[in-house]
Amino acid sequence: MREGKIGVAILGLGTVGTGVAEILSQNRALIFRRSGMDLELKRVLVKDPSKKRDIELQQEIYANEYRTILEDPQIQIVVELMGDLHPAKEYIIEALKAKKAVVTANKAVLANFGSELLEVARQNSVPLYYEASVAGGIPLIAPLTESLVGNNISSVMGIINGTTNYILTKMSKEGKAFNDVLQEAQALGYAEADPSADVDGLDAAHKLAILVALAFDDHIDLKDIYCEGIRSIDTMDIRFARDFGYTIKLLAIGKKTNAGIEARVHPTLIPVNHPLASVNDVFNAVFVKSQEVGELMFYGRGAGRYPTASAVIGDIVAVAKIMAGTGKALPRKFGSAKTLPITESSGSFYIRLMVEDRPGVLGDVAAILGRNGVSVASVIQEGRAQDQVPLVFVTHEVKQGALASSLKTISQLTCVHEIANVIRVEKGD
Ligand SMILES: NC(=O)c1ccc[n+]([C@@H]2O[C@H](COP(=O)([O-])OP(=O)(O)OC[C@H]3O[C@@H](n4cnc5c(N)ncnc54)[C@H](OP(=O)(O)O)[C@@H]3O)[C@@H](O)[C@H]2O)c1
Repeated sequence: MREGKIGVAILGLGTVGTGVAEILSQNRALIFRRSGMDLELKRVLVKDPSKKRDIELQQEIYANEYRTILEDPQIQIVVELMGDLHPAKEYIIEALKAKKAVVTANKAVLANFGSELLEVARQNSVPLYYEASVAGGIPLIAPLTESLVGNNISSVMGIINGTTNYILTKMSKEGKAFNDVLQEAQALGYAEADPSADVDGLDAAHKLAILVALAFDDHIDLKDIYCEGIRSIDTMDIRFARDFGYTIKLLAIGKKTNAGIEARVHPTLIPVNHPLASVNDVFNAVFVKSQEVGELMFYGRGAGRYPTASAVIGDIVAVAKIMAGTGKALPRKFGSAKTLPITESSGSFYIRLMVEDRPGVLGDVAAILGRNGVSVASVIQEGRAQDQVPLVFVTHEVKQGALASSLKTISQLTCVHEIANVIRVEKGD
């Protein structure tokens, strides 16, 4: 046995688990040379051992039950890659209580039970690492916890769902409707048969909960994250946004304000020259601002077998060093902060009304906005000779609550057929 030899068990041999198993066996010598850690894959747990796999492993490596892994003193690291909340949560807790280090890519389990799991890790003095849970292959959690440890981070803003970014990019480049692009994305395997977790923003909200805790040292409840997906985005909105100099992205935004933490996921207009505006297709990126380092952007593949496995392997080596006594600290403890309700947050807004095509409509709408203290930065009024035409404007900074009451009054005007869309604008300042 070589010095630094560490036994690893993988729970789940699907997309990511297979990639991790492959890299562990193919790159074992390279990992040893670079890190001094000799990682040996000792056991794998799956749901259906008879299933045909993309990787050939010796039959005896498959564990019949989880207990075999828990009770094996040679296994020091358990890598949870099963997904879903249960039994992933229970398996992680049992591994930590058995004094084994845990690596997971499971954003859902962390967003829902992160504080509890990290507490169990602390109580048992073993590490719990989760780099792959946010933005797949992009190293983000290690930079936030280590390289940027001396920074006061003021905001994190990211494109952290590849499916929705793919859909919005296609809608924007090819002028195709949401439902058509969604079907294409499903055919290509970029979107699930049930796409709601992605297109309604929940997947991004899970990742934002993790990011916010790391950026601001405070745990926030998933239910306090305002979450709005992309189903309402029409190609018309993308076109008007472009005319105003913006592109539409689904952003996950965490901001530290004096009044509390803002945590929200929603479609957003960002200026075309903002670095996030050129993040296209299934790519992810996270834009971090801090007083000390200034602006940073992390960019890369947010999912996929090998990108995600790359992040998991990094974690395995980091926890192996801790288990071997040559590594770094145990999980941090998070506080809890006040989350700012979405109605209290301020920003600029893009608003598209469908209105009657007659003189004076713009004046009626502008008067209501003015009475509520909402000022307009730009307007486009388009088309003639149709029974309804779009009236589109971008506001200056306004509290969401004030805007909502203006829109309520505007919706009662007989000349307004519909408030077709309201999208936040993020200027990146
Ligand atoms: N896919 C990505 O690109 C990606 C990116 C970032 C993070 N993640 C996260 O990584 C995790 C794994 O994702 P994935 O896409 O690899 O999932 P997947 O392809 O669905 O694979 C899941 C694996 O877990 C096994 N499994 C499920 N329930 C089990 C149970 N109760 N006991 C034992 N084994 C069980 C399955 O066994 P069978 O094979 O026998 O069915 C399968 O091998 C998830 O938390 C996901 O959110 C994935």
